[in-house]
Amino acid sequence: MPNRKPPALSTLRKSARACRDCDLWRRATQTVFGEGPEDANILFVGEQAGDKEDLAGRPFVGPAGHLLDAVLADIGVDRSDIYVTNVVKHFKFELRGKRRTHKRANAAEVAACLHWLDRELERIRPRWIVCLGSLAAKVVLGSGFRLMQRRGEWIERDKGQWALATVHPAYVLRARIGARGEEEFARFRADLMHLRHPPGA
Ligand code: URA
Repeated sequence: MPNRKPPALSTLRKSARACRDCDLWRRATQTVFGEGPEDANILFVGEQAGDKEDLAGRPFVGPAGHLLDAVLADIGVDRSDIYVTNVVKHFKFELRGKRRTHKRANAAEVAACLHWLDRELERIRPRWIVCLGSLAAKVVLGSGFRLMQRRGEWIERDKGQWALATVHPAYVLRARIGARGEEEFARFRADLMHLRHPPGA
């Protein structure tokens, strides 16, 4: 098989705009493709676009994104150096009155979307992948991956390519409403601190 170079991100992004591989496009405003440098060493992958992301057409620009930005700034990692994307690139929701509340994509919707992430990974070939949440972790590290047992640990996924999984920032936001908030925030920050000295750097 010839080793064909995957299409440029601009080409992928353009094709993804017209994606009809599952039905989520019907109610979503737009495809939320990944963004960041084509030669990024670090790639973050979240679960699926949320309400704010759907409106803006950009990943992690809502409350979860703000928390992520704050932690990255705090640990001295520049988001503009990172490629940020999601497993599922359309917002799925149900209407509660006028509010669009997040609904988890089902297995068929995840499977239909996965080829976009595969192509982003093939094109960028990041050295370090950070998975935000269990869905992203299972997609990147295998369906048997147990987030709560192995969070914050660099795992060699491929030769010279490492992945680390942590909880989703929305989980930290929810915890912050209750008593475990500060503890969860500190653990999330500690997990991301591993970016300061990643393996093979
Ligand atoms: N949650 C995600 O997983 N991704 C986003 O882009 C926003 C919220």
